[in-house]
Amino acid sequence: MIPDTHASEIRIEDIADFEGQRVTIKGWLYASTRKGKLLFVRLRDGSGMTQGVAYRPEVGDELFETLKRLGQESSLIVTGTVRANNRAPGVPKGFEVGIEAVEVIQETADYPITPKDHGVEFLMDQRHLWLRSSQQWAVMRVRTTIKRAIIDFLDNQGFLNIDTPIITPSAAEGTSTLFPVDYFEEEGYLAQTGQLYNEANIMAFGKVYCFGPTFRAEKSKTRRHLTEFWMVEPEMAFFDLDDLMAFEEEFVSYIVQTTLEKRRPELELLGRDLTALEKVQAPFPRISYDEAIERIHAIRKATDDPELKELLAIEWGDDFGSPHETELTKQFDRPVFVYGYPTQVKAFYMEPWPGRSDVCKSVDLLAPEGYGEIIGGSERMSDPEVLIAAIEQHELPLEHYEWYIDLRKFGSVPHSGFGLGLERTVTWICGIEHIRQTSPYPRTLNRMRP
Ligand code: 4AD
Ligand code: MG
Repeated sequence: MIPDTHASEIRIEDIADFEGQRVTIKGWLYASTRKGKLLFVRLRDGSGMTQGVAYRPEVGDELFETLKRLGQESSLIVTGTVRANNRAPGVPKGFEVGIEAVEVIQETADYPITPKDHGVEFLMDQRHLWLRSSQQWAVMRVRTTIKRAIIDFLDNQGFLNIDTPIITPSAAEGTSTLFPVDYFEEEGYLAQTGQLYNEANIMAFGKVYCFGPTFRAEKSKTRRHLTEFWMVEPEMAFFDLDDLMAFEEEFVSYIVQTTLEKRRPELELLGRDLTALEKVQAPFPRISYDEAIERIHAIRKATDDPELKELLAIEWGDDFGSPHETELTKQFDRPVFVYGYPTQVKAFYMEPWPGRSDVCKSVDLLAPEGYGEIIGGSERMSDPEVLIAAIEQHELPLEHYEWYIDLRKFGSVPHSGFGLGLERTVTWICGIEHIRQTSPYPRTLNRMRP
């Protein structure tokens, strides 16, 4: 029975505004523990988590017994008075609700995810339920804030958000990771990037971005790869490689600082080292690929660990693997730009380095603390003849790229752009081990369920 004195229906997120007031919270029971005549009920409502306290002499035996019996994830409506208690756990912490009445909506038993340790494959099979767990919940809250920060930053800088197609006729990021689509009589592919269309769009709109799902048939199991991920791709006309780096460092600093400001409780719940994030402020260090190779050689020489020595083997001209990026980024306390990669390890569309035909005007941004690449970008080829030669060299069918070559014939200008992987960025900002926890329903080599 809910007493009929007034109680405001609130979201736990806003609980601090209701100290001393009677409130109603609609949600689920996360866990409960009893200490004599006190029952501590952890409640979640989707917006936050708080502690409800039922005191037997106050709530009566019947309600106390009902609450005690309720299984994890029972749904309920709780009415009580908000009070400050700096020891009360929750998001936000420091508040609790002195329970006065409870309406049980559904009593639940045998919820499959319990506080004990489950294997990650089991939890991934239960993803539809696992999302309710506090850590998973916190990651999704951070993700949504990062998305918002990305959009706000670009919109405030005068970018136009133009959507690019998901069904595409040709490859843009190599032919080994294409997902084929049976497109009536023809073979199409799920988009690996919206970049080529962005390049057309900037000649119409100046500065644009696309932000949406991207697909790569990655056949490797790593903690950094999904087969479906979100990427934001800004593209700018009259922009060179230096402009690009200056832009990216402002962009990434904004994303990190905004997330820190808006999602501190969630990051604390995840146990994130916040001082490491506070250091993420422009400018970021810039090193050439040549210097990066020298640094990796030096790290390799200095290590006593034979396994690491083996993993770090690399020669000029090779692409970096995760171990190389991991070790390199440990040398810096903020993201680091590596520019001027060998042409042979990058996509076909990158502008050659002036005076060095084996190097291109590419730049990757590697996140610190071992996280590695979160951004890939470059200045684009602006000369049609150079572009045609590159397409042929990569053995791509020229007829699919005619419209793209056209852009270089009608008012071609220096232009640049990049792609930031949303899930890689969330993994780093949340400080978690594996990218799969940053997607609500991750798709990987061995998983497309639930
Ligand atoms: O470096 P990538 O392949 O660059 C491009 O696709 C360019 N066309 C972008 C552009 O210039 N407009 O991918 C960009 C970013 C990577 O740095 C990474 O963050 C993310 O996309 N990414 C992945 N994230 C998760 N799983 C995968 N399999 C990813 N592949 C790339
Ligand atoms: Mg890349």
